[in-house]
Amino acid sequence: MKLCFATNNKHKLEEAKDIAGKNFEIVSLEEINCFEELPETRPTLEGNSLQKAEYVFQKYNVPCFADDTGLEVEALHGEPGVFSARYAGEHKNSGDNIALLLKNLGNNLNRKARFRTIITLIGLEEKPLYFEGEVPGIITAELRGKSGFGYDPIFIPEGYDKTYAEMSLQEKSLLSHRAIAVKKLEQYLRRRSAPQ
Ligand code: IMP
Repeated sequence: MKLCFATNNKHKLEEAKDIAGKNFEIVSLEEINCFEELPETRPTLEGNSLQKAEYVFQKYNVPCFADDTGLEVEALHGEPGVFSARYAGEHKNSGDNIALLLKNLGNNLNRKARFRTIITLIGLEEKPLYFEGEVPGIITAELRGKSGFGYDPIFIPEGYDKTYAEMSLQEKSLLSHRAIAVKKLEQYLRRRSAPQ
């Protein structure tokens, strides 16, 4: 089974390939000759994830999935949430986003947060299918670690003492929000291809 992952984020592509293993083949946008920015203008993670997958499916006619992810910080009433990518502005700079988040959180003792990912799959059933992954954790006081991307250096998943950015790709792939959602997608594909 081949599925296009509708993302221009090379880190997300690498993570999903690592998580999916050998059970299904992930094809990049470049491999289907798509070199465009994908639209992402809806007010929810579900909406954006659907919008990206629909765009690629309708224009390139290949079964595909997209993800949209948000970091929801309790003391900031769920912000940045769906605005995670452009929290500090339309230039979508991760360093600036992190700096703004740490500034807004200040010395607040409530550091609780969660990462939430919605994957939308289009092209195998009549209707889109959704797979969700969520990981609770806390926001650090300062940046820790060099791997990963986005908000990884300030997020420690619950039950661990390292930020995502202090973990290897393989460690993050065992527990992350995206890993949970991709595994659900994989289970669906396995059930679908199993003999009846
Ligand atoms: P989007 O899903 O590409 O719109 O991502 C929203 C924002 O969350 C961007 O700033 C990403 O860098 C960030 N983000 C998405 N997934 C992750 C992750 O796994 N770790 C850290 N930041 C992430």
